Amino acid sequence: MASNIHRRDWLKQSTLAALGIGFSLRSLGGEDYLPRELGSETGLINLGSNENPYGLAPGAKKAISDLISSVHRYQYNIPALQTFRKELAEYYGVTVDHILVTPGSGEALNLMARAYSQGNLVTATPTFGILPNTAKKIGVAVKEIPLDNKKIHDLDALLKAIDANTSQVYICNPANPTGTIVQPAALKAFCEEASRRTMVSIDEAYIDFLDAPYNESMLSLVKSGNKNIVIIRTFSKIHAMAGMRVGFILAHPDTIKTLAANYFGNSNFCMSALSMTAAMASLKDQSHSVSSKQKNAAAREFTTKSLQELGYHCIPSYTNFLFFHLNNYQGDFAKDMLAKNVLLRSHDLPDGKWCRVSIGTMEEMKKFVEIMKGVPK
Ligand SMILES: Cc1ncc(COP(=O)(O)O)c(C=O)c1O
Repeated sequence: MASNIHRRDWLKQSTLAALGIGFSLRSLGGEDYLPRELGSETGLINLGSNENPYGLAPGAKKAISDLISSVHRYQYNIPALQTFRKELAEYYGVTVDHILVTPGSGEALNLMARAYSQGNLVTATPTFGILPNTAKKIGVAVKEIPLDNKKIHDLDALLKAIDANTSQVYICNPANPTGTIVQPAALKAFCEEASRRTMVSIDEAYIDFLDAPYNESMLSLVKSGNKNIVIIRTFSKIHAMAGMRVGFILAHPDTIKTLAANYFGNSNFCMSALSMTAAMASLKDQSHSVSSKQKNAAAREFTTKSLQELGYHCIPSYTNFLFFHLNNYQGDFAKDMLAKNVLLRSHDLPDGKWCRVSIGTMEEMKKFVEIMKGVPK
């Protein structure tokens, strides 16, 4: 009985969240929780948060177990962890002064919203919610520029929206929730122009799912000395560390210094020892990322093709999630799917109802497609 009530409350919360355009903090799981009885033992197919379904890299698991006997110490007293920022810096070809680590990139986005809150924020709609929602929460005006009809960032319109009072532009590329990308050359030209006028934050959470030539990071602009470009990265996606909370900012040392001023001592102080050791090991165990990426691409292709055969319009995805139009679906799709043990997100946009489904394992996506066959359109 008690668990039924829990489940109902949670259903209600997720449904409310799913109704929002874009992502609210609540829909991110910020205030949601997954009741134990809805765990995988009950057959729930969790396709709601764009996680890596293949789990941690073996090297990361080993690093955690190797460090477990040291975690009665603070992380700054564990010699093996002192190289975390250095290793990240070497991996990305920058200096340690270009990096600020954060407990998850959500914290980096929160930090950016607060650090650049003196004027308006320009961003797309729909987009990933943490930065714009935090900005709204603290009273910043947010100029939301609709994606184009292919659900791609409209860079010209975003550029036009920047005015004398703009303190920041936020671009999520690859884009969440649509899975689209902007071409690197066009994004670079946009960043160069926009950064002459304001701070530009590029959220590259899903960049590791891209193939060349699309996987070009805007980090090259930071390396060339541009102080108004900030790159936000996470270990939650390809590195399968969502529950371990590791993100980081790459930016000019002066910009990092300004952002770090909000931390007591050093932002490493907020990081878990186990998370840092796992992140370092995961960077060195690339074979797991490579195989996760390949399996994701195969499951994504299968899901896209299957949904198209069922008559759904899918936005071509470059990520580990897929955005498709729900035709004339009546009712609350996310809620109805949860009743069928599938957790995903649905959105009400001006052009109708859309679903964002994460790409799980091939087995999970086959089950999802079977369930979709019974869904009225
Ligand atoms: C685009 C994007 N940025 C940032 C995040 C936050 O990730 P985390 O806080 O786990 O690093 C997510 C999570 O889904 C995301 O989709």
